[in-house]
Amino acid sequence: MTDATDRPSVARAYDTWAARYDADPNRTRDLAATALRAQPLPLDGGDVVEAGCGTGRNTAWIAPRARSVVGLDFSDGMLAQARTRVAAPSVRFVRHDLRERWPLDDATADAVIIMLVLEHVEHLAPVFREAARVLRRAGTLFVAELHPMRQLLGRKAEYVDPATGRLALIDAHLHDTAEYVRAGLDAGLALEDLGEWRDEPADRAAPPRLISLRFKRPEASGMRDA
Ligand SMILES: C[S@@+](CC[C@H](N)C(=O)[O-])C[C@H]1O[C@@H](n2cnc3c(N)ncnc32)[C@H](O)[C@@H]1O
Repeated sequence: MTDATDRPSVARAYDTWAARYDADPNRTRDLAATALRAQPLPLDGGDVVEAGCGTGRNTAWIAPRARSVVGLDFSDGMLAQARTRVAAPSVRFVRHDLRERWPLDDATADAVIIMLVLEHVEHLAPVFREAARVLRRAGTLFVAELHPMRQLLGRKAEYVDPATGRLALIDAHLHDTAEYVRAGLDAGLALEDLGEWRDEPADRAAPPRLISLRFKRPEASGMRDA
């Protein structure tokens, strides 16, 4: 959905949430950060793309390790927070809708990170295709999203709208596990790891909060290299 200025409603919602996003308690956001830190990713000295970087919480952790980071997001409000938080010359934040071709050259990234973004994207294929296109050979795509079981229980990104004091739900699309796997495979990537993340790992009665997927761009593939 877009308004008269063609701003997608999801971008407008995050503009509104941006000032409170970091301060609001948010177990999903925090668990995704934990999942990221547990991954064997080629961040050290690498060129990293963070798609849907939000307020730059994770960019701030990635930046000191990486050679360069590009944070893409279509919310001006979230990007304003990110720019305030991370002001290193090696980090660039770009306003961009991930559903469009990314403003990056082929095979220029060692890692692409997408966290808590894809529930807002109806069609996964174009996003995975772009991630695969910008990855170098042997580069890694890491995805962490609200688990489809949680989505089926009605959970989605939500915040309290300061103008009304009411809970606002942000437009979301259900993606089941196979859809994520298929989108990666169809983009020419190989699945390396699939994870399910609970607040209490031993609590098998609770649905997982997050799903994570790690894909690798094969060493030899039909994709163009820089
Ligand atoms: C829940 S926040 C997650 C931010 C960050 N990845 C994190 O883990 O804290 C989702 C972010 O995805 C962005 N987003 C959602 N759909 C997008 C799209 N189509 N293009 C660009 N950014 C998008 C939103 O603007 C928002 O900043």
